[in-house]
Amino acid sequence: MREQLNNIKLEAEKKLNEAGSLAELESIRLQYLGKKGELTAVLRGMGQLTPEERPLTGQLANEIRSFIESMLEEKTKILQEKDRQARLGKETIDVTMPGRRRFLGKKHPLSIVLDEIKEVFIGLGYEIAEGPEVELDYYNFEALNIPAGHPARDTQDTFFINGDILLRSQTSPVQIRVMEKKKPPIKIICPGRVYRSDAVDATHSPIFHQVEGLVVDRGVTMGDLTGTLQLFARRLFGENTRIRLRPHHFQFTEPSAEVDVSCWACGGKGCRICKDAGWIEILGAGMVHPNVLKYGGIDPKEYSGFAFGLGVERVAMCKFNIDDMRLLYENDMRFLRQF
Ligand code: PHE
Repeated sequence: MREQLNNIKLEAEKKLNEAGSLAELESIRLQYLGKKGELTAVLRGMGQLTPEERPLTGQLANEIRSFIESMLEEKTKILQEKDRQARLGKETIDVTMPGRRRFLGKKHPLSIVLDEIKEVFIGLGYEIAEGPEVELDYYNFEALNIPAGHPARDTQDTFFINGDILLRSQTSPVQIRVMEKKKPPIKIICPGRVYRSDAVDATHSPIFHQVEGLVVDRGVTMGDLTGTLQLFARRLFGENTRIRLRPHHFQFTEPSAEVDVSCWACGGKGCRICKDAGWIEILGAGMVHPNVLKYGGIDPKEYSGFAFGLGVERVAMCKFNIDDMRLLYENDMRFLRQF
């Protein structure tokens, strides 16, 4: 039996020395030390030995077991380290390789224009007001001097949630909301999204953006409105820009005007951008109607005011020479990257 044990030791030692992988080590472990392993079988047979033989043989068997175990342990460490080195070798990073470039986002043309507009009016001491896009019929029409059934509603058909609640068709309802909350002097602009029941084409979208302006104080005149818009136009489109007011009708202003700016591309001579007109319409404006002041809780005998509403898409399209409004909403980076 001793001889058998020694043979096992020699054989195991040889195999362990030759083993080249962790999987091989495991099968060697099973072959000798496993439940059905060779060394285990020998130990089981110990019962047949004479009592004198037993201790010595047992000792030898134990020595061999711990010999194999410690060799296995050592070999495992060596092979694991070899594995690790091989993996590291495969995974080396070439730090000299150029990195993958991250694309930095850019401001959307509508945001560029909106920020410029805000900057001009904040510089003039205006505050930024906000109002809900889901609005009451009362604020969007009624309190703006457009009663139910009035034909002025037809030009601003919008989406109704129910009979009284709709998606605002203009930022003008904010005029009333501000007047309800604030005493004059009032000087606000309100940028925001508005909705109309229009089909999409190159110049229409059911969702677009406006900036409303409202000034209410004692003695505010049409001259103040004109001066403010003139200054605004110069800041936005260049120092040589002129403005032109054409008489118009809005229910909530009286008198009312549509306001054009001289074409910044040709200076008013006529070109492709202004379609040979020399002028480009950018906003509607006027003196706040006395009824509207009353709806806002302000006495028209004591106060007067002016208001204007400007289309942000229009200004952006003109400024950047964009001929199709849909480009502003498609989020195509090839388009947006240009600004
Ligand atoms: N709300 C008007 C529109 O959408 C524009 C406007 C605003 C006109 C304020 C006059 C005063 O057409």
